[in-house]
Order: sequence, then C-alpha cells, then structure tokens
Amino acid sequence: MNASVSGVAGVSGRLSLRQRLFASPETKQLADTIDAGVATIEEGLSKELHFTDALADVSGRYLFGAGGKRVRPMLTLLTALLGNGATPDVITAAQAIEITHLASLYHDDVMDEAPLRRGVPSAHEVWGNSVAILTGDLLFSRASTLMTRLGEKAMLLQAETFERLCLGQLHETIGPRPDEDPVSHYIQVLADKTGSLISAAARCGIVYSGAPLEYEDAMVEFGDKIGVAFQLADDVLDLSPESGATGKQAGTDLRAGVPTLPTLLLEQQAATDPAAAALLARIRDDADEASAEADADLELAIAELYAHPVTQATREEARRWAAEAVAALDILPAGPVKQALSAFAEHVVSRSA
Ligand code: IPE
Ligand code: IPE
Ligand code: MG
Ligand code: MG
Repeated sequence: MNASVSGVAGVSGRLSLRQRLFASPETKQLADTIDAGVATIEEGLSKELHFTDALADVSGRYLFGAGGKRVRPMLTLLTALLGNGATPDVITAAQAIEITHLASLYHDDVMDEAPLRRGVPSAHEVWGNSVAILTGDLLFSRASTLMTRLGEKAMLLQAETFERLCLGQLHETIGPRPDEDPVSHYIQVLADKTGSLISAAARCGIVYSGAPLEYEDAMVEFGDKIGVAFQLADDVLDLSPESGATGKQAGTDLRAGVPTLPTLLLEQQAATDPAAAALLARIRDDADEASAEADADLELAIAELYAHPVTQATREEARRWAAEAVAALDILPAGPVKQALSAFAEHVVSRSA
C-alpha cells in the first residue's frame, strides 16, 4: 500500500479491500494504477483541506488525518478505467466526494452521539457539537468549491447527491409514516443516506474519464445497490465483537436508538415471539439507562442480537443487494475492470472493517 496512508483506523479495511480487488491474475495489473490514483487523491486532499481560520484548519483535517478506507475514491478510480483513467477531472471529483463523505461523518457523529470515529475521539467529543457541525458545513462548502472547477453538471450532481444524503438522514431520524412499511422505508433510507454518495462516486469515474456515457446509468444503479449492501453490512458490523477494526464504538446505533435492519426484524418478530420481545425490551431499557450495570447488560444483549437469526437475515439481505448490483454490470465489456467491480461488491458484504 502507498506510504501516503495517513492514519491507523481504516488501513486494515483498505488493505483487505485492495487484496480482494486485485486477487486474480486478471485484476492484479490494476493494483499499481489504483494505488497511484489513491495517493494522488490523498495528496490533493491534504492540500485542499486548509482553512485560514486556525481552529477550522485543525478541526477540518482532523478526521481525514485519522484514516478511513477511501472506498469511494477507489470506486471512482475503478469506473474511470472504463475510460481514460485518472484524469485531473476524475481526481477532482473523487476528492470532492471524499470531502462530502468526511463532512457527513462529522454531522452523523453528532446525531448518533458516537464517541469514536476512525479510531479517535469524534470531533464533537474534542470541540463540542457546534464546532463539529460547523466543521462539517465548511467541508461541504469546500467540496462544492472543488466541483465548480468541473462545471455545471458536476455542481448539479454534487447538490442533488448532498440533498439526497440529507433526506436519507432526515427520514431515518423521523421514521416511517404510519402507512409505510418500516423495512421498505429503511431500505430507502439506506439508498439515500449511503447509496447516494457511493453512486455519485461510481458515476463520476465514467463522466470525467471520457468513458462511454451509455455506462453511466448502469454505474448509478451499481452504486445505489452496492450502497445499500454496504450500509447493511455496516449495521451488522455495529454489533460485531470485533468492531475494533472499524475504529467505531460497537453498539453505537443501539445506544442512540438508530434503527438498523436487525432491530427492525427483531421488532417484527417480537409481535409473535416472546423471546424476541424480551431481547428488544432489554436492549431499549439498557440503552435508556445510564448505569454501569445497564452498560454491561447491553454488551450481553448486543452479543445475543449478533448471534440471532435476524442478523443472519440482514447479512443475506446485504448479499441480495450486492448480487443485484453485480447484475447491473452486465452492460460492461468482460475484462479486469468488470471483474474488479464484482470483487468490490463481494468485499462490501464480507468485510470486517
Ligand atoms: C461510514 O463510511 C459511513 C457509512 C456510510 C456507513 P465508511 O465505512 O466508508 O467510513 P470510512 O471512510 O472508512 O471511515
Ligand atoms: C451514516 O450511517 C451514513 C452517513 C454518514 C450519511 P451510520 O450512522 O451507520 O454510519 P456510521 O456507522 O456512524 O459510520
Ligand atoms: Mg453513525
Ligand atoms: Mg453504522
């Protein structure tokens, strides 16, 4: 891996993604190209993320320096190989998307009251909620500035993606309407809050590399679907006893009352299954109560939920979305890029970080 990898958290995730992408003799030849592209993107980010204000200069670079898997830049670089590769515009678009992602993490950690991100205390733990939110806003502005270099289409793509991401977070926060199916509502939330940006990453690789534009819709579909699979896998990782590799605190979703597919399925099951109802009540009571005893019991309840069939059902749902994403690749010519994108999809649902 390139020496420019800046933090510890995320590096193991990045390495395992890289291993998966370049595992076969056909895709191995892409490894150096993608590594060089990621290094260029990171060097550029390190320069772009400066602010004249002394505090913003530190808080704005804080999570970038802490690590991260760089999944979205890798996807942009991969789809760009269907055209002329990592052109300057592809690099700029990938940077803008990674900055947008970074900004969403500052805001998300405030919303989820998450103590840890990329292996370091979350920005709001260091500077408080207001600075964390404003730093996220500054980063969103910086991402928009970068996209203006690419013209109107890029600005529109950025604005529409960001709007969809925010609506996903909003709809997660307010929950389904009484007439809406909670699981369908939830899947739409995942497509919007996570699929939007992953889809934009896949799309930019096509649009800014001069690849045939008939691939654009397929890559948007691939990104949306793989985004849902990615987030379902993330929901399972939130319960995993090995969550150290994620650089996040296990059980953050449960503690914050954020819905996930395992808890939604448990809720459905609780209507007819007293054991499921008891586990659900325990999780809710423990999460509401601030005591060492409740914390200890929550750990046990998380382990039970992790071993419960609803978590296996979530993994299977993630696999279904990944398989649908791979089906969207049908239009692409056979070759190493198509193979690497399929490997990307496989990695998303089997990752441990
Ligand atoms: C975290 O994204 C937010 C989700 C969409 C689940 P990543 O898992 O890509 O986070 P980093 O960039 O590696 O830290
Ligand atoms: C948030 O999903 C996705 C966005 C940041 C838009 P999560 O809340 O599951 O992300 P993590 O687990 O905190 O990374
Ligand atoms: Mg979160
Ligand atoms: Mg999560």
